[in-house]
Amino acid sequence: MRLAILSRAAQSYSTQRLSAAAEQRGHTAHVLNTLSFAIDLADEAPDLRYRGRELEDFDAILPRIGNSVSYFGTAVVRQFEQMDVYTPNTASGISNARDKLRAIQILSKHNIDMPPTAFVRNRADVRPAIESVGGAPVVIKLLEGTQGIGVILAPQVKVAEAIIETLHSTRQNVLIQRFVAESRGRDVRALVVGDRVVAAMRRRASGDEFRSNVHRGGSVEPLKLDAAYEQAAVRAAQIMGLRVAGVDMLEGEDGPLVMEVNSSPGLQGVEQATGLDVAGAIIDYIAGRVAFPEIDVRQRLSVSTGYGVAEIVMNAGAEQIGRRLGDLDLWDRDITVLTLHRGVTVIPNPRKHVVLEPDDRLLCFGKLEEMRSMIPDRPRRRARVRKLPPEAQELQ
Ligand SMILES: Nc1ncnc2c1ncn2[C@@H]1O[C@H](COP(=O)(O)OP(=O)(O)O)[C@@H](O)[C@H]1O
Ligand SMILES: [Mg+2]
Repeated sequence: MRLAILSRAAQSYSTQRLSAAAEQRGHTAHVLNTLSFAIDLADEAPDLRYRGRELEDFDAILPRIGNSVSYFGTAVVRQFEQMDVYTPNTASGISNARDKLRAIQILSKHNIDMPPTAFVRNRADVRPAIESVGGAPVVIKLLEGTQGIGVILAPQVKVAEAIIETLHSTRQNVLIQRFVAESRGRDVRALVVGDRVVAAMRRRASGDEFRSNVHRGGSVEPLKLDAAYEQAAVRAAQIMGLRVAGVDMLEGEDGPLVMEVNSSPGLQGVEQATGLDVAGAIIDYIAGRVAFPEIDVRQRLSVSTGYGVAEIVMNAGAEQIGRRLGDLDLWDRDITVLTLHRGVTVIPNPRKHVVLEPDDRLLCFGKLEEMRSMIPDRPRRRARVRKLPPEAQELQ
């Protein structure tokens, strides 16, 4: 495999380890500076130039995109995707992970537990937001901080309000998050590669610091993850569209609370803490996937007029519940079931003998008109028109 590692830090531990691991396995690895690409949209086919020259052929890229270059960096990754070059982390996955708010918005739809969080803009909404996540002490976070910078613990509501108002006045958006005190300055970093956690460590903040980032003086120790933590980490990475990710979790009273998903996790801390060859695992994973460049499935499946993708949910009372998939005449109606989501498990290409249960979700491809009748009405959160209060009715 010919691999390009996109990085601005050719000398960093992670980049060096990744290229060495690739070379050891008989691949060629080039470290290319993300900022030295030029995106070429003039020709018929999407192309890229590097340092003013035509780019050589690569089978795969591994983006290591720092915060400072995320707009340009993700544009370069997106261009590789258009050129059908495999990348474990897509441009959209990288941008979704970069923004802490966007990340938790996406994760919250998929039953991933996270610390209660609020996002507000108006001054009048600040205090209720602090109360809604559990009151002081409360954590305030800049949306795009890393390495613990931009994460503040405010001991009292008044202090929190003052900090948030100050940041708002300088046009900084912030998250308001419950301080998970029971984690006691510790967190868990899981390195996800593909569908598994390849290494994990616990980070412990030093002294009276509550942030456990290594850059804030935190110490690290190897950790064997419980199944619940492993599953939360893998699912969070999958949902974000990242095949290589560092998932940060707090140890809450009831299990893992996902804080963030990093798309370019550093390897030094975790390799040194665990003695595991994480770089090698990443390279092996990429080599096994080179033949399957990312395809925007929804977009590709929507180009046939009248056909598309839909999710059919088995709401309570749906007539299909208790019946076999094969007895629903789906295939006769030109509908193919791609996956069946049941709780947190996914059954790919479900067979016809599978019996439907309440809350099952069928991801289908087919004729939109045929599928329309199977999609239940959208649930309303509240009645659209409220009844008049009795005194107003009397006036009529
Ligand atoms: N809600 C919270 N409760 C307790 N500790 C937290 C909370 N949020 C963050 N921390 C601590 O602060 C560190 C940095 O927060 P994080 O959201 O991961 O930002 P960064 O991107 O800067 O690493 C975490 O590793 C954790 O130790
Ligand atoms: Mg972090």
